[in-house]
Amino acid sequence: MEIHVLSGGIQATEDELIVVNLFEGVRTPGGATGAVDKALGGGIGEAIAAGDFCGKKGEVALFYPRGAIPARRVLVIGLGPQDGFSLDAVRWAAAAAARKARELGVASFSSIVHGSGAGGFGLETAAQAVVEGTILGLYRYQELKNKSPDRPDPERFTLVQFDPAKVPEVEAGAQAGQIAAEAACLARDLVNRPANYATPTDLAELALKIASEFDTMRCQVLSEQDTAELQMGSFLGVAQGSDEPAVFIILEHNPGREDLDTIVLVGKGITFDTGGISLKPVENMDRMRGDMGGGAAVLAAMSAIGQIDLPLHVVGLVPATENMPSARAYKPGDVLTAMNGKTIEVISTDAEGRLILADALVYAARFEPKAVVDLATLTGACVIALGRGVAAGAFATDDPLLCRMQAASQLAGERIWPLPLFDDYLSKLESLTADLTNSGGRYGGVGTSAAFLKEFAGDYPWLHLDIAGMSFEERPDTPSRPAYLQKGGTGFGVRLLVQFLRDWVAAPADG
Ligand code: BES
Ligand code: MN
Ligand code: ZN
Repeated sequence: MEIHVLSGGIQATEDELIVVNLFEGVRTPGGATGAVDKALGGGIGEAIAAGDFCGKKGEVALFYPRGAIPARRVLVIGLGPQDGFSLDAVRWAAAAAARKARELGVASFSSIVHGSGAGGFGLETAAQAVVEGTILGLYRYQELKNKSPDRPDPERFTLVQFDPAKVPEVEAGAQAGQIAAEAACLARDLVNRPANYATPTDLAELALKIASEFDTMRCQVLSEQDTAELQMGSFLGVAQGSDEPAVFIILEHNPGREDLDTIVLVGKGITFDTGGISLKPVENMDRMRGDMGGGAAVLAAMSAIGQIDLPLHVVGLVPATENMPSARAYKPGDVLTAMNGKTIEVISTDAEGRLILADALVYAARFEPKAVVDLATLTGACVIALGRGVAAGAFATDDPLLCRMQAASQLAGERIWPLPLFDDYLSKLESLTADLTNSGGRYGGVGTSAAFLKEFAGDYPWLHLDIAGMSFEERPDTPSRPAYLQKGGTGFGVRLLVQFLRDWVAAPADG
C-alpha cells in the first residue's frame, strides 16, 4: 500500500473516504471531528445523541456528506475511553478503519493522526501507530489460494496533518510505521506458510535475499557439515531425524564495524515440530509450522534494520531445522554434546527448541555482544503461566537490559512479563548420565527451560523471550481482540525488536 502525508484540513480533503475519531462518551465532538461534524451540519453529533455511536474501541459509523465536503464518505472511528488511552488503541482504531475501508471497496482513503491532539501522544509516535494499525489490520495470508479475495485491499492511504510545519514529523512516523509493520507482515507470512513451503533451506534463501537488498548486510548459511565442524552437537542432534537439510543462518548488519555496539538476536527456527520420537498428539499439530516464529521475527527485524540503516552492529542467528521422528532420529536417553562441551541427556525429543538455541547462544559469544536477545516459541508451560495472546515470558541475566525491553514493549504494544531465573529450576535438570537433562518435567516448565538456556549463554547480558503464546493467534476475529490481529501468525516480536534497537541507538548502554 502507498502511504502519503498531506497538509490541510481533513474536512477539505478530497478522497473516497476520510477518517476522523471520537473518544468513548464524548457528546460534542471537537478538533478535526468537530470541524467535519460542523461541515456535515451536525450529523455526527446527532448519531451520538441518538445513541447510534458512542466511540467504543474499534466501533465505526459511516456518513455520506452529499456534497457538503469534497470527500465521498466520512468514517468516524471509536478510540475507546480517554482514561487509560494507549498507542495500542490508536493501532486498533486505525486497523478497524482500514478494514471498513476495504469492506466498502474503497481504493483510496485519508485519515487524521489518531492519538495526537486530545490523545496526548507526539505526532511522530501517533503517526507511526496509525500506519502500523492500518497495515497490520489489512493483513491476509493469500499466497496459496487460487481465488483472490472478494474485496481487494485499498491502494492508497493518506495521513492529513493540519499544520504544514509538522508534516515532517508525520512523515517520519509514517515511514517508521510502514517499515516495522511490513516487516511484521513478513514474519506473519513465515509463520502462516506451511512447513513444506518454509523449510530450513527456504529460510536460508530468504535470509540471503534480505542481505542482498542492503549494502550493509552480509549473510552466511552454515550447512550441517559446517555446524559439525563447529561441534554444534546439540543442534545436530535435533536435525538428524529430518531429511530436510538443517541450516544455521547468520545475518549481519554492519559487519566488522568495531565503532558500533554489537547486539545479537537469536530466533528459534524449528520449521516443523512433530515432537520427534516423543511425538506430539494429533490435535492442532499443524500449528507447529509456526515453531519458527522466533526465527521469523529475527529475519523480519533484520530486514527492517537494513531499511532503517540503523547505526548498530546487529547479528541475527537462526538455527533452522525440522524436528522429526525417523529411523535416524535422536532418542530419549541419547546424550548430545553442545558447542561449549556440555553434555545433555535428552529426556524428551519434544524439548528441542532449547537444544538448538543452546548452540546458538554459545556461538553468539563470538561477537562479544553488548546484549543477546533470543525469541522462541519454547514452552507450552509459558502459555499456561501467562495465557494465550497475553504476554511473552521474559527472563534476563541483566536488569538494565530487561528494563530496556520493557520500555520498548510499552511503545510497541507487544507485551512481555518478567519471570524468575531461580537456581531451583536448574536443579530440576540433574542427569544420571550427562551434565544436565533437557527437560525438568511438568512443574515450572517455563522456568526450567530458561534455566537450561542460561547454561549456554555466555557472560554477555542476556534476555530470553518465550513467545509460545504470542506467535500464533488462535481465536477468530472477535470484538475483544485487537483489530490489527487476525487468526494465524501475529508477527510478534518484530516491532518490539525494532523499537528496542532504535532506542539502543538513541541511548546506548554505558561502558
Ligand atoms: N514448540 C513447542 C512449544 C509450543 C507449545 C509452542 C505450544 C507453541 C505452542 C516446544 O518445542 C515443546 O514442545 N515444548 C514442550 C517442552 C516439554 C517437552 C519439556 C512443551 O512445552 O510441552
Ligand atoms: Mn517441541
Ligand atoms: Zn518446538
